[in-house]
Amino acid sequence: MSQSFYLSAFAVNDDSLVACAQNQVHGSYFGPMIKLSNRMQHIFDRLLPGQPVWDLCCDHGYLGLQAYRSGLFTQVFLVDKVPEIISELEHRFYSNYLKDGQSAQVKFIALPGEDLVDEIQGNLVIAGVGAHTILKILMNLRKKGLLSAKQVILLPQRQEQWLEDIISASETFGDYNLFEKHELLERGRLRKVLIFRRN
Ligand SMILES: C[S@@+](CC[C@H](N)C(=O)[O-])C[C@H]1O[C@@H](n2cnc3c(N)ncnc32)[C@H](O)[C@@H]1O
Repeated sequence: MSQSFYLSAFAVNDDSLVACAQNQVHGSYFGPMIKLSNRMQHIFDRLLPGQPVWDLCCDHGYLGLQAYRSGLFTQVFLVDKVPEIISELEHRFYSNYLKDGQSAQVKFIALPGEDLVDEIQGNLVIAGVGAHTILKILMNLRKKGLLSAKQVILLPQRQEQWLEDIISASETFGDYNLFEKHELLERGRLRKVLIFRRN
């Protein structure tokens, strides 16, 4: 198990999503490049390419939309429990993001993460919700035999150590090991990113 731990000190504006005029060389981007917040970019940079991306509790959906636009991933799933958020996101996607004939690569799901019925493969990201919510989602997916992601990236609002300890110690998640742990400074607050990989 390899672990790295570092501090990236930068201000983060979560709500910022700025379309850049020029494409950046990072994989194969289609259309104008999107500038994510540093926090979202940090997560995006760690996604395993050639795999699906599940963005649970997606809200604004920036991560998933960027994943789609990058062309680096086989499929992108945007999941949020609030139906209005998902319908707004879907509307934005079809207005601004859809590439010819590639709508099948994106799925919008208005469900609580814990109620999903599809097997989760590839990259699973749960960011910006409480540690208890994250644990509930993971537990329920596991109970239903749906948690098969190669990599799980978690960014709880707080109680990161609690979440890390429970996942690391629980037999339920015995096939997952902590692979990396990062710290980000976000609006003066230290946030931890936990990355688990499946054996
Ligand atoms: C603060 S936003 C986080 C957005 C994004 N993931 C981020 O980190 O910037 C929290 C979102 O999680 C959604 N949410 C909360 N609990 C959820 C659950 N159990 N399943 C799915 N979505 C959930 C809320 O509806 C809200 O849109």
